[in-house]
Amino acid sequence: MSTSAYKILITEPIPQKTISFLEDFGKVVVGEKGAYQSEDRLIEDISQYHALLCMLSTPVTEQVLKHGDNLEIVANFAVGYDNINVEAAHEMGIKVANTPDVLTEACGDYAMGLLLALSRKFKEAEQYLRDGKFKGWEPLGFLGMELRGRTLGIIGMGRIGQAFANRAKAFGMNIIYHNRTPVDRDIEQQLDATYISDHKELAKKCDVLSLNCPLTDETHHLVDQELLAIMKDHALLVNISRGAVIDEEALAEALHQKAIAGAALDVFEEEPKVHPELLSAPNTLLLPHIASATHKTREAIGQLAAEAIVAVLQGKPNHEIPNLISR
Ligand code: GLV
Repeated sequence: MSTSAYKILITEPIPQKTISFLEDFGKVVVGEKGAYQSEDRLIEDISQYHALLCMLSTPVTEQVLKHGDNLEIVANFAVGYDNINVEAAHEMGIKVANTPDVLTEACGDYAMGLLLALSRKFKEAEQYLRDGKFKGWEPLGFLGMELRGRTLGIIGMGRIGQAFANRAKAFGMNIIYHNRTPVDRDIEQQLDATYISDHKELAKKCDVLSLNCPLTDETHHLVDQELLAIMKDHALLVNISRGAVIDEEALAEALHQKAIAGAALDVFEEEPKVHPELLSAPNTLLLPHIASATHKTREAIGQLAAEAIVAVLQGKPNHEIPNLISR
């Protein structure tokens, strides 16, 4: 097929550089903001396209894939790909790509930023000032948790978990982690990180619990009532992975009852919905899923996803496309 005959759907506006790159290769259609957050519209449209560049909010279900008569590749504009039924795609011979590595540093910075903001009560203190309540320096105002010497427990020690650990170590924190398997010894040594095989044991020990794991059947609602009950009552929770790793109902209750001291959440189970009890919970930072949101990173994400699309449509072998998800 001549390249101009390829049709590529980008489900919503992304950096122009990526769109232009793909336009050199085929006919590109860009959906409007939020256009493909439901299955129905994708099911209607997908049969026209050879490649789909979708968002983490695009549900690429088995039904969608079944309607993709011409579809060769789904490239996610994200590192997490729980929105895509990868198994069904592979069974239908459709390739799937994600965007690892390019967002690691932005996410590491962001997790550290959330922890600092949460532990030092930036949000409440700023609101206090804006409300005209700041009447002069207060020796007992807004006392928070100092990070040096505290223990950060990371669930999911992949690239992003390591990037956060690296920054937290520079702030003097002790690092413990849980992962399916321990990371390489040299990485553990570099981060001074200790592997804990039982995530409940980790939750018991840490002052800050950070979720950096993918959403899978095993991690769904991993942070539940039981886990929250064994955490220290001064502990803070940071989540930049996926909302459904937490049972939000249980978390809201733990926060309201002060069973833990606070949470910084960048992700929610049913985005864009936020559990109403989280909205009213004390010491809780709620952000609209922006961990990778820097100009540089979002451009790099687009480029990596687009390169996988071009490579697949050009018929390159899988081993030459590093960000394809393997079977
Ligand atoms: C963002 O959440 C991503 O998975 O890239």
